Amino acid sequence: MDPARRLTVGSARTALLALAAAISLSCSDGRPAASALAGPRASRSEKVQESVSPGLAVRVRALAARRGLGPMPPRRRVRPALVRLGRLLAFDPILSGNRDIACMTCHVPGLATGDARSLAIGTGAAGIGPERVHPEGTFVSRNAPPLFDLGLLDHLFWDGRVEVGRDGRLHTPAGGRLTPDMRRTLRFGAVSALPMFPVVVRAEMRGRAGQNELADLGDEDYAGVWAGLMRRLGRIPEYRRLFEAAYPGRRFDEMSFAHAANAIGGFLVDAFTFDDAPWDRFLEGDRGALSREQLRGALDFLQAPCARCHDGPLLSDDDFHDVALAQFGPGEGDGPSGRDDFGRMRATGDPADRYRFRTTPLRNVELTGPYGHAGQFADLPAFIDHYSRNAARLRAYADADIPEPLLRGTLVENREAVLAARDTLILGAEFDSTFVREVTAFMRSLTDERARHLEDLVPHSVPSGLPVPR
Ligand code: HEC
Ligand code: HEC
Repeated sequence: MDPARRLTVGSARTALLALAAAISLSCSDGRPAASALAGPRASRSEKVQESVSPGLAVRVRALAARRGLGPMPPRRRVRPALVRLGRLLAFDPILSGNRDIACMTCHVPGLATGDARSLAIGTGAAGIGPERVHPEGTFVSRNAPPLFDLGLLDHLFWDGRVEVGRDGRLHTPAGGRLTPDMRRTLRFGAVSALPMFPVVVRAEMRGRAGQNELADLGDEDYAGVWAGLMRRLGRIPEYRRLFEAAYPGRRFDEMSFAHAANAIGGFLVDAFTFDDAPWDRFLEGDRGALSREQLRGALDFLQAPCARCHDGPLLSDDDFHDVALAQFGPGEGDGPSGRDDFGRMRATGDPADRYRFRTTPLRNVELTGPYGHAGQFADLPAFIDHYSRNAARLRAYADADIPEPLLRGTLVENREAVLAARDTLILGAEFDSTFVREVTAFMRSLTDERARHLEDLVPHSVPSGLPVPR
């Protein structure tokens, strides 16, 4: 970057800020009192207010409204008995063929519901998070995303293969194997259907033929796996009681695995919806909620193409784009190498969707690295920086850049094809280190402090008596 340019940008900004401060000072009598705007939280903001230019805050708020980066909708209430059941199921390794891995082994509360790895590590491994090792050194094909605010998304998984379509109907890889009765049971949209799928995937939870009764079933025998899991759960009296308390008026023997999935979905909605980040307080009118650097970062983000895709309360359009990322690891069986990942095309079959992945929501993003569908970047500034001159960046991405040492040497040579399908919004993007620093600061304003301390959600024990991942 040209240092002279940064200087110009910097001093122009300072002048602008000074001007904005002067203007606001001269007309401060005419505006509504800060406390009227900020409501009950005004006192917290008053201390810092002087340091932030009101003009900048006003611009950011107006642009955010125009770009649709609105506040979170009201929280959805979930029956406590359903949450109780869902929580225990999510932490219970009984849902895995070999009884050695639970949902929350990969979505660790203390690691912001991810595993802090580029790619997740499935059944057959030991340990958790950074310490997790598989004896054969194997990984699953994609990064384990965080579980935040999923009740608000219609497309789940990186390729959106569990989705509520425009027709309002649930579409999943199970097709007709999801019976009408199961569909009626799933009450929280895509997030209540999703838990039906990790349990059928061999590398994640089911295991290999010969290892257990669920793994011995055919690859496509989802119904068999779901019924087998209900048989396991039904042998544990505490689960029978928990299911019947969660679904009053139904006997356990009349329930299907959709009742388990729906309870896990309810737990995820209840435990992992976050709506109290500094950004939320700012949108509510608390001008002091963001530092000056964060406000500048917000402005950068809103003026750059970033907010064209990262919009709405979650900073995601819930849609699919190719943002020029490298591919490595075992992949999804696509391309000549068999190690490529065609992303959204895998769900739709449409070649126009090749290499498109769902726009990642950015709430709590500072806590959720590594970033990208394969964990291509270990830290946030590096991910933001990759958008700048992204074609050159992708061409220069080397094995040594893969955050996970065991995955070095697995880079897939698909880069020109990824670039050819790149979203036009990121063509020609170029910005300096000031932009990266400020936007990173803005991203920190999306952190709800409660998301840093989720360890308390880990139960002391689960009804199966198996060890709880912690
Ligand atoms: C082996 C580690 C592992 C286990 C075990 C696991 N997951 Fe995941 N989870 C992942 C990975 C990897 C993805 C992304 C997969 C993809 O997009 O194809 C994912 C995706 C998800 C998503 C989608 C999030 C989004 O933003 O779209 C949800 C929800 C989820 N998992 C919940 C669960 C639940 C519930 C269970 C247990 C039934 C579970 N996971 C078990 C690794 C795991
Ligand atoms: C064309 C739409 C689009 C634009 C423009 C865009 N993004 Fe993204 N962003 C995405 C998609 C899609 C992903 C997920 C890509 C993947 O993993 O394959 C993503 C991922 C991210 C992530 C990683 C989050 C995570 O947890 O993995 C960050 C951070 C991010 N974008 C920030 C930005 C910033 C900052 C800008 C502006 C410089 C920007 N994005 C511009 C679509 C976009």
